[in-house]
Amino acid sequence: MIVTVSNNKGGVGKTALAAHLVFRAAEHGRVLAIDLDSQSNLTATLIARADKHGRAASDGLFTEIDLPQPMATVDANIDLLPAAAGLTGVDRQNLSSGFSAMGHIKSLAKQYDAVVIDTPPALGLRLMTALACADRVLVPLVPESYSVDGVATVLSEIASIGENLIPAMRPADFVINLMNPQARQHRRIAEQIAANFKVAQPWLSRSVAVADALAERRPVWRKTTSRNAAVQWRTLCETLLRDYGVLPVED
Ligand SMILES: Nc1ncnc2c1ncn2[C@@H]1O[C@H](COP(=O)(O)OP(=O)(O)OP(=O)(O)O)[C@@H](O)[C@H]1O
Ligand SMILES: [Mg+2]
Repeated sequence: MIVTVSNNKGGVGKTALAAHLVFRAAEHGRVLAIDLDSQSNLTATLIARADKHGRAASDGLFTEIDLPQPMATVDANIDLLPAAAGLTGVDRQNLSSGFSAMGHIKSLAKQYDAVVIDTPPALGLRLMTALACADRVLVPLVPESYSVDGVATVLSEIASIGENLIPAMRPADFVINLMNPQARQHRRIAEQIAANFKVAQPWLSRSVAVADALAERRPVWRKTTSRNAAVQWRTLCETLLRDYGVLPVED
């Protein structure tokens, strides 16, 4: 099961969501995290900076003929293909590099219960490849109008890749993030999105505990400061991972 987290808007919670899915899926089985964003945020959430020295990185998916070997992390169930500086150059490569990366990702997926791919906030070969090899696509959104406008671009990209490459691809799941439940505008926009798209439940509120937990390389449910955020994130990850067949119905 390959899950891609994408949105060409920055700062909407792609990496936070990818990391929490990795943590929750790893409580049950073997997970491969692939960081395709040269900002390295998912990598930094899973390993200390020095650990990736000399290891294969995710740009190798696009440039190497041999399958890149993911590295181990402190969690025995989580392997990682970390981000590397060379990733930005990948978007200038041609489509055949994308096809070769798709083949590598699909081969790697056979060794894991789940593969979670974090993508950069830019349309390009990396995002396209990650969408094209995904069994499921997750799009986190902030319910503010400036942020929702960009969704049309992601959706049309997903739709055109879907029509051309994977006719059986399912529609993306949307995740409402950084919600302020007190803001009437947020509620209204979130309800509008939910009326038109498949939106996962529950909606995620803004909580400083999320960033704090990730800085400590753990999920928010391992942090005791915000019970509300802990329940929201864990419930959301479980709902999605059960739906994707990664978690059994009553894990
Ligand atoms: N629900 C939340 N409450 C509070 N902070 C959050 C929440 N979700 C994400 N964050 C924080 O907001 C910041 C942006 O989130 P994140 O890095 O996941 O976004 P992104 O979409 O991956 O951004 P980019 O496009 O730059 O990669 C991070 O510091 C993250 O920890
Ligand atoms: Mg990110």
